[in-house]
Amino acid sequence: MFKTLQRNFKLLGKRRFIFMFVLPLVICVFLVATRIESSAVQLRRVEMKKDDFRVPFKKPLRVLHISDTHLYNSAAVKRLHKALDLALPHSPDIAVITGDFGIMPKNEHDYLLALSYFQLLSQAMPTFACLGNHDYQRKPKKFPPPGPSVLKFLADANITVLQNESKSIIVNGQRIIIAGMEDYWKGRPNAQGCLPLIDEPREDVHYLLLDHNPDHLLKLQDYDWDVAFSGHAHGGQIKIPFIEWRPHTNLENNHLARPGIHEIFPKRYLCESVGLGNLYELRMFCKPDIILLDIK
Ligand SMILES: [Fe+2]
Repeated sequence: MFKTLQRNFKLLGKRRFIFMFVLPLVICVFLVATRIESSAVQLRRVEMKKDDFRVPFKKPLRVLHISDTHLYNSAAVKRLHKALDLALPHSPDIAVITGDFGIMPKNEHDYLLALSYFQLLSQAMPTFACLGNHDYQRKPKKFPPPGPSVLKFLADANITVLQNESKSIIVNGQRIIIAGMEDYWKGRPNAQGCLPLIDEPREDVHYLLLDHNPDHLLKLQDYDWDVAFSGHAHGGQIKIPFIEWRPHTNLENNHLARPGIHEIFPKRYLCESVGLGNLYELRMFCKPDIILLDIK
């Protein structure tokens, strides 16, 4: 193979070789990364056992996890449509969305389409969200307030936004507390008031935590939670195959970018999503995902 390339290089000369071999290869890689890979939404199935937790679940629970939709353009809205097509036939019990909705689509048609998809989701099941760093205003630099357009969009979609708050619901006869944090980078995340301390006696209840940035979970050792849902890292967007190396993740703890389940503290888990969206419409060996978590 290398000898053939060397022979072709000599025969054609440097310029023609680049034009005939290198340029088409670069174009192909670019097209795969920007057109094919970034829109290849996959449903990631994750199973856990009821006994895997500090307090075993009594009944099964199926959670749909969506993250980082980054609704900047029509391609992002199409990915959301595809995600719901994949997820809704499985009838999840609840949906959790872990932030970075992003600036809403620029044209009205896409905006209304995205809104109708989220309305469909919240009609099908109780839907909760936390905010990500892209959901806050740009100014002031330190602790900006959440973007009013994002909050209005979520209110219109009937999605419950949790900012250092929790809500209690009954699912399949068992009580679940959903707690949501403000963003680790832009907000003032505060677990007090929405999660109990780990050494407090636990009632007959289970805790799901929505926290956009998984780095923050390492600071929540003193609090009681079962599964935390995060995104933010986009799986690195570019992954080197076979060695699972993600060169750029935006995380302090690079390993948390791997999608799926991580045991952060004994019997306290992170469910990390690659997310639906991306920055710059670029993905390589790192397809967008939504997660269906089954606790059986
Ligand atoms: Fe983020």
